[in-house]
Amino acid sequence: MQIARTREDLARALSALRRDGRTLGFVPTMGALHAGHVALLARARAECDATAASIFVNPLQFGPNEDFARYPRDEAGDLATLDAAGCDVAWLPDVATMYPPGSATAIEVTGPAEGWEGAVRPGHFRGVATVCARLFGQVRPTHAYFGEKDWQQVQVVRRMVADLALPLEIVAVPTVREADGLALSSRNRYLAPAEREGAPRLYSVMRGAAAAIVSGADVADALGQARAALEQA
Ligand code: PAF
Repeated sequence: MQIARTREDLARALSALRRDGRTLGFVPTMGALHAGHVALLARARAECDATAASIFVNPLQFGPNEDFARYPRDEAGDLATLDAAGCDVAWLPDVATMYPPGSATAIEVTGPAEGWEGAVRPGHFRGVATVCARLFGQVRPTHAYFGEKDWQQVQVVRRMVADLALPLEIVAVPTVREADGLALSSRNRYLAPAEREGAPRLYSVMRGAAAAIVSGADVADALGQARAALEQA
């Protein structure tokens, strides 16, 4: 696996991989890699001639009171994970490489970026869209792989790619879960034991509501009951 930390390194590493119209599958990450990220890379490897992954904790997508400073960082462990997963190029820009002085462009997505996480984390999807646009410009992949766990993020990135006619395909990959149903996430490590114990309720309650709706329950009733069960939990 080649490790690139500058745009020049990256261009050198990618030039050999992109020749003769070969496909390049890209997995953007913020590091603290887990089996969910490995599943993205496995899918990229299965579908593309070569793969690249980025590790960049993007300051633009964190709010002022969020966990940017304490977001888990483990570069050596992450590089070993990418290497073992068969990644061809690891792209590790620093903040000045991603946002050089004088940068003046950000991407504002409306529509799918509004509501839900967009409503409670103002600026979050602006940061995600901006860094993804920059990463796509730097890496120039033919395919980029995102986890369905961040469903709204997938919709936002898809919208941006369609609206800007960016020449790549966004592939959504099913969520990888713990045995008890909790979605794998780098942030699960923040959970205290009691919170970790209660967290799988989110999935089981939503599955229950979905099953009830599929078997004919009133949608508003099913959602109301699910909301009440979660609030109680
Ligand atoms: O899902 C993530 O880890 C991040 O939002 C992403 C897509 C790597 C952009 O920083």
